[in-house]
Order: sequence, then structure tokens, then C-alpha cells
Amino acid sequence: MLKNDFKITDASGYVGKEVVVKGWVRHIRSSGSLFFIEVRDGTGYIQSVVVKDDVSDEVFENCSKLKIEAALIVKGVIRKEKRAPGGFELGVSDIEIIHNPEEEYPISKKHHGVDFLLEHRHLWVRSSRQLAILRVRSELIRLLRSYFHENGYILIDTPIFTGSIGESAGTLFETEYFDFGKAYLAQTGQLYLEAAAAAFKKVFCFGPTFRAEKSKTRRHLTEFWMLEAEVAFYDSNQNMDLQEDMIHFVISSIVKNCEKELDYLKRDLAPLQRVKPPFPRISYDEAVEMLKKRAFTIDWGQDIGGDEETAISESFDKPVFIYNYPKEITAFYMKPNPEDNKTVLNNDLFAPEGYGEIIGGSQRNDEYNSLLDRIKEERLNPDTYRWYLDIRRYGSVPHSGFGLGIERLLAWICEVPHVRETIPFPRLINRLYP
Ligand code: 4AD
Ligand code: MG
Repeated sequence: MLKNDFKITDASGYVGKEVVVKGWVRHIRSSGSLFFIEVRDGTGYIQSVVVKDDVSDEVFENCSKLKIEAALIVKGVIRKEKRAPGGFELGVSDIEIIHNPEEEYPISKKHHGVDFLLEHRHLWVRSSRQLAILRVRSELIRLLRSYFHENGYILIDTPIFTGSIGESAGTLFETEYFDFGKAYLAQTGQLYLEAAAAAFKKVFCFGPTFRAEKSKTRRHLTEFWMLEAEVAFYDSNQNMDLQEDMIHFVISSIVKNCEKELDYLKRDLAPLQRVKPPFPRISYDEAVEMLKKRAFTIDWGQDIGGDEETAISESFDKPVFIYNYPKEITAFYMKPNPEDNKTVLNNDLFAPEGYGEIIGGSQRNDEYNSLLDRIKEERLNPDTYRWYLDIRRYGSVPHSGFGLGIERLLAWICEVPHVRETIPFPRLINRLYP
């Protein structure tokens, strides 16, 4: 095992002991013969107290030159201090300066506009709020992966270059691909996951997906991370049961495991603690009626747009499923509803508190001829889908799956208004830098 450096979060176990803290200056102030340097090491913060008589003249002298984000190695003894943030402080005996910036750090405690912050995202990720959000992201992904591994799912890594369009042709990123003409960046791993579900029964994938979304909304990125699952022999209702169980597991675990981060973000835990099965399930028909009563102008057959999503999502205090959408507004691969041929067996899951859609899922069309018809209707090239149609030729079974957008789920968990803060380096229609 690697011997790890001391971590600030472990300070409580080191009271009275000498430690070495490697980190960066978050804040510094002086009062006469003292310096208070708040040091950040990526795990936490510790107030480091430099007393003139306890260090060499050179070290004390250097303290007055330290800039925000200077990199340091600080030696000292941990002590309990009620008044210090975190409850512990470091009585400093020595400081080695690794790098002291020549200029003032661009991000200060004063208010910066979001464009400025996005332009400095490479530095903005060091801020406490961003550290908290991205730490929750890391834990969320760990939990999702463990949920699937522990429930008997096989991880299948699906390709990013593809010739088979997965969702709407209107949001494809294209690139030249040798002798084959165009390749597309994957909008979903689903089609490949369906092939794998016929091999392993229960499979999942997790990776980046790409949509040339022209929309500049708080819910859209051009590159986002999607967790997708696919299960052979599951129908649409079992698919919703699975989504419900997964969301309940990850949310209840996040509340326990990310207490500190959610507290820092001042997240009200009550809406997260209410996330217990069963979630309400309302049909698309019912959703349209509900919206009409709320004075929205929506007719049966129209898609549920951003504002409508927000309205539905605000009307429930738990996540809510909307199921069986009109065929015309859904993807070609969804199974027609045998009880109503105008609709398909699909579902969205809306997060509460106005966050809107976080999951899209469906039972897949497992019938060769009707799937081929839909491919032709959508003016897709059947030849590109030979392999996908083959799944319907050899041991075709009812099967279902879904895709969960990590950034949207995280935005809701952390109660941040825009998905651009829930991914380390957001890709937006108007941003490729940094
Ligand atoms: O509803 P979508 O388009 O469904 C699919 O891609 C299916 N093939 C998934 C499947 O059944 N395996 O996308 C799924 C989720 C959405 O509910 C949303 O959370 C997220 O992906 N999403 C986006 N997140 C950020 N930016 C975008 N542009 C997104 N588009 C979809
Ligand atoms: Mg969707």
C-alpha cells in the first residue's frame, strides 16, 4: 500500500502531533507578530498560525509576500481550536514555499459574473463551492456504478464513433471517417447496449454523449455524461421500477455520504429525504390535462417543453414518471403501445423542485418488421441498422432500458440552477474554452 500524505480532513486524529501539510493559500491575514494562513489541500482547509518567535526570521519575512494560491509545504503541530473554522488549527514551525504567484489571483471573494468564471473555469474549480459540487459528482458516479455492479449488471463500454444515429438526427456531431464517409459522435450507447443485453441480460454503460443542441438552456450541454442500463425480459413497468429503486438508492446514499458538501451548499435535505418509492406515475394524457388546467397552451401530441417540464416538476414533492408519449414525438426504437397505437411504451422521470427531466427510458421495439418500418419512416438508412435489426432476428425478447443524465441529476441534488456547474469543464454551444 502507498503511504499517504497527511490530509486536512484527518486533523482530528493528529491532535498534539507534528504533521506536514502540502497545499495552497486560500486566505491570509496578519496581526502584528502573527500570520493566519488558511491552507487548502484538496480535502479541507486549516488555519495555520505563524508566530514570529516560533519560526525563522526568513519564514516570517516570506509570509508577508505570500499571494493567494501560493503553493506551500507547511510543518506544524495540530491543535484543537474552537474558534478556528473546522475546529482545529496548525501551530506552524516551518514553511517551504513551492511557488508564489507573481500576480494577484484573478478570482477573489468579490462577485464575478458567470462569463468571467466560465472563462476561468480552470481556476474556478479550486473554489469551495465548485469543490463541493464536484465532490458530490464523484460520489454520485461511484454510487451509480456500485449499484449496477452489486445488482448483477455487466459494464459494457459502448463506442463513441458510430454510423447508427441513436436519437434525433437534428443534434448530431459529424466527423470524417476514412473510407466510410461520415461518423457521428454517440448521442447514446443504447443501441449497442441492446445487443449486449441479449448477451448478458443485465448491462449498463457510463460515458460521454454528444448532442449538437442548439438550445441555450440551463439543462443543455453539448457533451454530457449518461448512465444507461438495459435489461432483457423487462417491460416498461419493470423499467420504471428499476429507475425508482436506483434513484432511491443513490439519493439516500448521497444524503448520508455527502453531508458536509450538501451542508456547505446550504442544500435543504427535506426534498432529498422524501425520495422514497413509489414515485407517482402519470400518463402523457394526464400530464397534458394537468398542464391545460394550469393555463398552458399544449395540445395532445405536442412535446412537453422546458416551461411545462418545470411546471410538472414543481407540482410533485417526489420524482414523477410521465409515461406513454405520442409516437410522433418519440424515437424510432420505442415499442408501440399494444393498447393504443398512437402512443409508445416509454417514460421520462422528472426531478422535483422544477428541475425537470433527468431520465428518458422505454421498452424497445422487439419486432423486426415494425422496427424496420419505423426506421424507414424516419428516413434512416436500413443498411446502417442491419446489426441492430439482427437483434430482432435471433432470439428477440421484450427488453427495456433508460438513460440518466448525470449533470441534470447532480444539478438537482446540489440545487444549482444550471448544468454548467455540474461538470468539470462544460461544453456549451458558445463555449469550448478552457
Ligand atoms: O432522453 P434521452 O435523449 O434518452 C436517450 O438518449 C436514450 N437513448 C437513453 C436510453 O434509453 N438508454 O437522454 C437521456 C437523458 C435525459 O433524460 C437527460 O437527463 C440527459 O440524458 N440529457 C442531457 N443532459 C445534458 N445536456 C443535454 N443536451 C442532454 N440531453 C439529454
Ligand atoms: Mg428525453
